[in-house]
Amino acid sequence: MAYKVTLIEGDGIGPEISEAAVAVLDAVGVKILWDEQIAGLTAVKLKETPLPTETIRSIKKNKVALKGPLTTQVGRGFSSVNVLLRKTFKLYANVRPVQSLGQLNSHYKDIDMVIMRENTEDLYSGIEHEIAPGVVESIKVITRKASESIARYAFEYAKKHKRKKVTAIHKANIMKLSDGLFLDCARKISKKYPGIEFDDKIVDNACMQLVTRPQQFDVLLLENLYGDIISDLAAGLVGGLGVTPGSNIGKKEAIFEAVHGSAPDIAGQGIANPTAMILSCALMLDHLDEKKAATKIRAAITAVLKQKRNWTRDLGGKANTKQFMNAVIKAL
Ligand code: NAI
Repeated sequence: MAYKVTLIEGDGIGPEISEAAVAVLDAVGVKILWDEQIAGLTAVKLKETPLPTETIRSIKKNKVALKGPLTTQVGRGFSSVNVLLRKTFKLYANVRPVQSLGQLNSHYKDIDMVIMRENTEDLYSGIEHEIAPGVVESIKVITRKASESIARYAFEYAKKHKRKKVTAIHKANIMKLSDGLFLDCARKISKKYPGIEFDDKIVDNACMQLVTRPQQFDVLLLENLYGDIISDLAAGLVGGLGVTPGSNIGKKEAIFEAVHGSAPDIAGQGIANPTAMILSCALMLDHLDEKKAATKIRAAITAVLKQKRNWTRDLGGKANTKQFMNAVIKAL
């Protein structure tokens, strides 16, 4: 059987890591018919819009997309296409597994956690305005509906993947209404899952404990902004942004992508680490119920990372994107 999947190569290092990911999927033997579409800077240049209608149509039709990173300019330019995609398809759960991979980052071992980030609201609603010259407001929106949905998803995920604990992370001591609501929803939903431990931590303390004792964390349940920040912190514990994959899950559609951005500082040099994008493909295969192929890819990545000669520059090695890709294909 062949799956039809939308492919958005993305900006910056996107095309380099997408090429590697597609080659690895090809090598693992799952038949995928790629429906190539554009978004972000490439789309602005070619179609004068960051998210063309054809791209939206393609994702709607195929239900599954693999996406490279998309650039969003800081402080100016069009709004984030990533946020727009998540809103358009109501991709309410951003799931980011963070696991120790062999001997990468020797400070920490045995890390195995999953970041469960609410993906549609919070300060990412983009409601900002200048109320007087030199005074701006940015509105944080938290709803019961979205908070309960992500909490339910986190517990269902924990149940399905035999995880033991869900930790809600918040700042409800200060933002008593917004974070208070998020925490209340998490507590309420937790009661329906007596077999799964539930606790909560204030976000600043959670950051400190992630650095001192990360092994205590299992599933982390977070609002959008804390989830974004803690994802990068957690990536740093296991080898960096080059190795952490992610998925954006909705009721109908799902988009798979690495946690990292378009890395403009190294784009076009052929030295980007494709691990995160390849592991995002493994998450996509899980979603398509191609579990065997997903496991094969993860095993190949683990085997390849055992050899320091395969490490890319971000990991302290010298291999380039193509050499890494070839090593994974060989391991498969
Ligand atoms: P970034 O994640 O692109 O890069 C941060 C640092 O990590 C850079 O030094 C970069 O070289 C390195 N890095 C990231 N991925 C790497 C990889 N695969 N291999 C080797 N090194 C890697 O974050 P930054 O610089 O803050 O953002 C750049 C652009 O990406 C911005 O326009 C931002 O809006 C966008 N972005 C897009 C995301 C997405 O499409 N989901 C997520 C995060 C950022």
